[in-house]
Amino acid sequence: MCTHHGETYARRRAAFFDALAAASPSAVAVMASAPVFVRNNDVEHEYRQDSDFFYLTGFDEPESVAVLDAVTRKMTLFVRARDREREVWDGPRAGVDGARALHGADEAFAIGELDDKLPGLLQGHRRVVYRLGVSRANDDRLLRAIDRVRARARAGASAPTEIVEPGVVLHEMRLRKSPAEIETMRTGARITREAHELAMRRARPQMHEFEVEALLLDTFRRHGSERPAYGSIVGSGPNACVLHYRKNDRRMAEGDLLLIDAGCEYGYYASDVTRTFPIGRAFSREQQAIYELVLEAQLEGIAATRPGATIDEIHKLTVDGITRGLVRLGLLAGEPEELVKTEAYKRFYMHRTSHWLGMDVHDVGGYFEAGKPRPLEPGMVLTVEPGIYIAPDDDTVPPAWRGIGVRIEDDVLVTTSAPDVLTAGIPKTVEELRHACGG
Ligand code: GLY
Ligand code: MN
Ligand code: MN
Repeated sequence: MCTHHGETYARRRAAFFDALAAASPSAVAVMASAPVFVRNNDVEHEYRQDSDFFYLTGFDEPESVAVLDAVTRKMTLFVRARDREREVWDGPRAGVDGARALHGADEAFAIGELDDKLPGLLQGHRRVVYRLGVSRANDDRLLRAIDRVRARARAGASAPTEIVEPGVVLHEMRLRKSPAEIETMRTGARITREAHELAMRRARPQMHEFEVEALLLDTFRRHGSERPAYGSIVGSGPNACVLHYRKNDRRMAEGDLLLIDAGCEYGYYASDVTRTFPIGRAFSREQQAIYELVLEAQLEGIAATRPGATIDEIHKLTVDGITRGLVRLGLLAGEPEELVKTEAYKRFYMHRTSHWLGMDVHDVGGYFEAGKPRPLEPGMVLTVEPGIYIAPDDDTVPPAWRGIGVRIEDDVLVTTSAPDVLTAGIPKTVEELRHACGG
């Protein structure tokens, strides 16, 4: 896959080598592919490559290991050997030759040779950059290889003395998106927009939530998305208040709110969008009041998504706005500042406002720097997704408010100037929703 994108991966590896070399005079990185997960008997879950591994290699086959030497700046790939019989069942493999010719490996070997070759590749390096704890089997293999280098010490070999987490360097790289990555994310956002618009047009009373989910998945796939970026949430009525609702099996009724949190994965990048709209008729007065409050907070959060601001500040803005609004509507009683301080608002707004977005839906990258929330920089992408959820059995509020759940979520790119909403254009104002909804 992606031979024409080989340049991209070579450039990323060059930047990775630069960063490793800057931190240590002699580093070698060992990166492993994602494992295959067995579903049952001889059936496997759909395979998806590990994001870190794919980011540096563009190689999408399982049972692969990349050794990236920051001194020689060479990549050695260990891959599944060609196997005529297996390939009849599972499809073609790049093999050792393909790893070199198509995937930019300076050297390539069959994965079966890893234990033999790894000590030689580690020897003479002080630092091994490797993520411990993900796979105990891989950890053991690496430690055995280091042990074998130590055994050669009397013959003059110097063995690594440090094992260092790759994320420190790699996740900082992934956090700042290149123009090519942003273009890919824009394409994913366009597909996600199509899916949400179709769901709005088609959702009607008496339909099941899963029928709407099917429309979303169909749209993703028809436009070339590999898969949803996470399990789609299609929650109607009281289910809109279940933050990680996944059953999607309820029959919708007229007057329900439908909360759809769904985004496609495209070219290994996630989109993550939530829209909430009424089924079969206009918002009720209470639904609309909550909706407009969430929307106002979300727009304020988006407007604040600028260089130098922090995710904490964006969260504080949306919390303040929502708390003031809940007091205005009579759903919370007291001074807004006090209700924020005592976290009384958490009864209705219990999650964070933002997370990084990229190859993974909850993407990598630190949220703090030296214990303080880190300032945003151009090239970072995050979600802004406030919500209000009034439990169906909350008898502290009048019945008309109970069971209302609203979240509005967009994907926002930080730029040197105004925030760039990648998922802009998906109907969001009350007026836009009125036009977009078919039921
Ligand atoms: N869909 C996961 C999230 O919004 O964070
Ligand atoms: Mn979401
Ligand atoms: Mn999200």
